[in-house]
Amino acid sequence: MKRLVVSILSILVCSIVLAQGKLEIFSWWAGDEGPALEALINRYTELYPNVQVDNATVTGGSGVNARAVLKTRMLGGDPPDSFQVHAGQELIGTWVVADRMEDLTFLYQEEGWLDKYPQGLIDLISTDKGIWSVPVNIHRSNVMWYNPAKLTEWGISAPETWAEFLTICPSLQAKGVTPLVMGENWTQQHLWESVALGVLGPDDYKALWTGELAFKDPKVEAVWNRFGEILKCSNDDAAGLSWQQATDRIVSGEAAFNIMGDWAAGYMTTTLGLTPAEGFGWAPSPDTGGVFMMLSDSFGLPIGIKDRDNTINWLKLLGSVEGQDLFNPLKGSIAPHFDSDLSKYNAYLQAAAQDWKTNTVVGSMVHGAAAKEAFMSQFATVLEIYLSTGSAQAASNAAQAIANQVNLGK
Ligand code: GAL
Repeated sequence: MKRLVVSILSILVCSIVLAQGKLEIFSWWAGDEGPALEALINRYTELYPNVQVDNATVTGGSGVNARAVLKTRMLGGDPPDSFQVHAGQELIGTWVVADRMEDLTFLYQEEGWLDKYPQGLIDLISTDKGIWSVPVNIHRSNVMWYNPAKLTEWGISAPETWAEFLTICPSLQAKGVTPLVMGENWTQQHLWESVALGVLGPDDYKALWTGELAFKDPKVEAVWNRFGEILKCSNDDAAGLSWQQATDRIVSGEAAFNIMGDWAAGYMTTTLGLTPAEGFGWAPSPDTGGVFMMLSDSFGLPIGIKDRDNTINWLKLLGSVEGQDLFNPLKGSIAPHFDSDLSKYNAYLQAAAQDWKTNTVVGSMVHGAAAKEAFMSQFATVLEIYLSTGSAQAASNAAQAIANQVNLGK
């Protein structure tokens, strides 16, 4: 027995010491989005001190810029060793169908992960040919953020419905406060899908992405009309704001509410040093109580990379309880791994973990989980059409045309 332990230990030590060379990790977690990833990389470097890690980032919330750079590299035959990608069609509809990813079923078997992740999440990253990435987190998309002290000062509380929000809106505007702050295009799409979930409810929201509910349906026109009413309560300079700058306006009290994923909680706790429920408050996006719109960041193993063994060690760390409990409390997300230790998480994240277990779960379209990548990547144009025409019909027609082109749901 003693001999067995000694030889296992020496194999382990040897493989750690022998690991050398490079590892390039490609993501959009730059600047103040970076601390959680950096914590993981530091741990990797402790485990594999002879591996030189290149933390390659392309700034831009939700990966709008990183995806374009990744495309050039993948098509040019220069894949990064591992890249950030949303669990779901964002990976499967692109680099899996193009045969550019390795099947990771072997790793799930070796690491015993098949029983350690929710089946729904494994399904999201799988096809009948394999499992294609390792999810590091679960983010919630449909969250409304605010500053509790400011709401008290203004004598309001977080609205549970958009109808309620629209009645509060004029009084805030009269005080010179922006009722709802938005940022650049993708953050407006983000708001749109939360409004869609609220207006349609979870079943019709899901039916939109499977193609069972047509964009031309009057129910979807009602979503655009509601969205238009909400936009009248938002800031004029949205196009020039990053999601962090929009969050800053909540904190300062220039604006009352913001709909954003819970990376905003990561930013407010890790970067701004605020305490959940004191420095910032949260509620489900109006009309979506009891529903958890999820998305997940994951990393895969491209075919033809230079540092395959180092990448597999990286994926092992990402998928481990240790890695996830290091990363997620800083990131503002929860761990998908069943053995995660919730005592390491703050009050916001403990509440999110509870909702994740008890709410109806739906996927985010904007963040790669719910719809074909070919549809998701063109939704920015649909939004622009709505913003320039103000016409629900024009936007719905555009969305339907794209859905038909890409065979949405097939
Ligand atoms: C999401 C991503 C999050 C966060 C956010 C803002 O798409 O899943 O982890 O990075 O974009 O950039």
